[in-house]
Order: sequence, then structure tokens, then C-alpha cells
Amino acid sequence: MALISFKNVSKTFITKHHFHKNEINSAVVDATFDIEEGEVFGVIGHSGAGKSTLVRLINQLEKTTSGILEVDGHQVGNLSEKDLKKLRSEIGMVFQQFNLFGAKNVLKNVEFPLKIAGETKENRQKKALELLDFVGLKDRARTFPGKLSGGQKQRVGIARALATNPKILLADEATSALDPETTLDVLRLLKKVNKKFGITIVLITHTMSVARIICDRIAVMDSGKIVEIGETDQVFNNPQHPTTKKFVQTMHALESGKLEDKEGGYNEN
Ligand SMILES: Nc1ncnc2c1ncn2[C@@H]1O[C@H](COP(=O)(O)OP(=O)(O)OP(=O)(O)O)[C@@H](O)[C@H]1O
Ligand SMILES: [Mg+2]
Repeated sequence: MALISFKNVSKTFITKHHFHKNEINSAVVDATFDIEEGEVFGVIGHSGAGKSTLVRLINQLEKTTSGILEVDGHQVGNLSEKDLKKLRSEIGMVFQQFNLFGAKNVLKNVEFPLKIAGETKENRQKKALELLDFVGLKDRARTFPGKLSGGQKQRVGIARALATNPKILLADEATSALDPETTLDVLRLLKKVNKKFGITIVLITHTMSVARIICDRIAVMDSGKIVEIGETDQVFNNPQHPTTKKFVQTMHALESGKLEDKEGGYNEN
């Protein structure tokens, strides 16, 4: 059974202007697809395609405009505040810029979601230390985020996202701010999270290599629509939609280290 199920889900932003026509932005258009339990599911597409909005619908950081979205058997549109809180405690999230609390030490950062959930201090600390051990940062519990490298910050971000024992982890460009080696480390950790705890991961990435390394399946987005979906290697080895073809071409160009003389003018020297 699908853990996350989108049925004709759309998200439209309406920005109200006083003296101009209201601006309508169709960020997600008629998305229908499933994410299975235990999967690592990737979302790719260029800037503004709607990836973050799509993923933020899952924990209702963005409210659904229309359609039916089910997470773990529950319809998540129109949840009460109480049910929303419960949903969010089942879904961890990690971000490109880590979003750690700079004024709290590492331990307090990881404890934070448990504090919100009303756990006792003793339970919070025990769980946070376990998780810091899991991500390899137990010795940094009393350090402040400002003293950590990017990769270490993301490990703390992952530990914090796991604090409430979520079923789902959302990763919005979680490795985009990291160098290649650190990216690999963090991807290894995410894979471990997926395998060891059976957590379903939904991951947004801009790079084909990240998707190939970790994603079982991917969805390609363009202008709010999912234009292609399938097993990662299949999609990249045999892209069907023009957007996917262009994406794969661009990635190959980047990896080959040569600027193609497509429009002319770039390759003159
Ligand atoms: N809060 C908002 N209010 C109005 N429009 C928004 C809002 N959030 C996103 N949008 C619009 O929705 C569209 C999709 O944005 P989204 O952030 O989901 O794209 P993305 O694929 O994640 O892009 P990027 O790769 O740059 O992160 C864009 O046109 C964006 O301007
Ligand atoms: Mg985004």
C-alpha cells in the first residue's frame, strides 16, 4: 500500500495586490502519484518547477488547494491543529541551509522536537544522545552550530529530524550546500536512515548524480506538473519527456567539463 498518495492534487498561490490584478501561481498542477513505504523517492526539475511546494504539501506546510492527499492512510487536507501537529511529528524535514537554532547547542537542537512533543527532559536527552551517536556527533553535543562544518550541521539536522521517530523524512536540497565528499557522506547517512529505520525519504535534488546514488524512483517536474516518473536509472538512461531529455543533456555537459557550442560564442578560445 502506498504511504503517500496524491490524487489530482493542486496548489495555487494567489498573491493579492491592491492596485493590480491578483497574481495566480500554479505551483503544483494536478499531481497524481504514489510513494511507497520504504522508498527513497526523488523530485527533480529546474528552479521554480514546484518541487518544494510539492514536498511541503506532504506535511501541510503548504495547504492543498484541491485534490486528495493521503499520508499513512489519513487524508491530510483540512486537518485540525491537533491532527496537524500529530502529522508533523510523523514527518521529519531537513533543509539546504540546515535551519539549526544558532543560540542552542547541538544537543538542545536535537531535543527541540521532543520538547514540543512534551517529552520529559530525561527522555529528550537520552533520545538526542542516541541520535547524535547514530550520526557520529556524540562528542559534539555541547557545541554550538556556528562551530560546526556544513556536513556536521546537516548531520545535526538529520538527527533532529529523526527525534520524533518519523515514518517519513523530507529532504529539500539537503546536500546542495555541501562539497562532493561531504555530499557522499550525508547520502550514506540518509541511506542508513532509510535501511536501518525503514524511513521513507522524499528528496529534492538538482543533480543527476545525487538522484542516481540514492533514489529508487524519481519524478521530474516542470511548471508545476509531473512530466515523468519512474525508476531512477530508467528515467535517466531513457528519458521520454523533453524536459527530462534536456535535464540529462545538461547534466552530461556539466560532467564532461566542456561547454557545448550550442548557441555559438562560448567556445571561441
Ligand atoms: N509562498 C508563496 N507565495 C506565492 N508563490 C509561491 C510561494 N511559494 C512558491 N511560490 C511559487 O510557486 C512556484 C514553485 O515554487 P517552488 O519553490 O515550489 O519551486 P522549486 O522547484 O522548489 O524551485 P527551486 O529549485 O528554486 O527551489 C514558483 O513560481 C514560486 O514563485
Ligand atoms: Mg525549492
